[in-house]
Amino acid sequence: MSSGEKPSLFNQLEPDPEVSSYKTLSSVWERQDSELIEEMLRFYPRQEPELILDATVNGGRFWVGSCRPVVGMDITICHRPKIVGDNMRMPLRPEIFDVVVYDPPHIPNQGKDKQKDFNIRFGLVLKSSKENGYTFSHTYPLFVTEAYRVLKPEGILLCKITDYVHDHQYQWAHIDLIEAAKEAGFCACDCIIKIRKGPIIDPKWKIAHHSRRRHCYWLVFRKSVKCE
Ligand SMILES: C[S@@+](CC[C@H](N)C(=O)[O-])C[C@H]1O[C@@H](n2cnc3c(N)ncnc32)[C@H](O)[C@@H]1O
Repeated sequence: MSSGEKPSLFNQLEPDPEVSSYKTLSSVWERQDSELIEEMLRFYPRQEPELILDATVNGGRFWVGSCRPVVGMDITICHRPKIVGDNMRMPLRPEIFDVVVYDPPHIPNQGKDKQKDFNIRFGLVLKSSKENGYTFSHTYPLFVTEAYRVLKPEGILLCKITDYVHDHQYQWAHIDLIEAAKEAGFCACDCIIKIRKGPIIDPKWKIAHHSRRRHCYWLVFRKSVKCE
């Protein structure tokens, strides 16, 4: 410092390691689910997850190329999951997972498109009755109660939910899931909109006065009283 220069008022601080390693996560996602899940697993858990439950694992497409410690559950034996079981009544001890991932069948009573193979892959063959409002929302409270039970404190629940139109009625599946999760004790923390290239169109409805959905939601919950 030259003789005329005033001394600085501030200390030279060491860079904060949390700030310097911080990487943002966008609220809109246009790539694969598997890439988004990896980003979310980097972003939300407070510690590196030691055990992850995929409660609707199907063929395990979320984990292709992943080294994550994942246990897959599915009610359908033909997918050969590690656990054949009902995620509304899990045959599991409490507080063993750091993360639970949930991608339930989302479009009940869908007209089959014989050209595509995603009827089985995406659970499109499943039905929902009039009593249940032609939705799968009645299954959410039982699932989120079980997810809460098997998650460790501060554990994360990641849910892929798609709204849809049935019989000219908009079905607000993502709102039903948020309400069920809050009721079960979860903190509802975040929402990422995933966009697909083209909409899934029920071949039965050539004309619909609803927009064609080409997005779904990834909803993020924490078994905690706060998100941050
Ligand atoms: C949309 S698929 C999941 C696709 C998977 N995430 C993937 O990308 O490969 C839904 C899966 O949930 C399973 N499922 C439906 N109800 C279930 C339940 N009560 N318990 C466990 N699995 C269930 C279906 O058998 C189906 O394989």
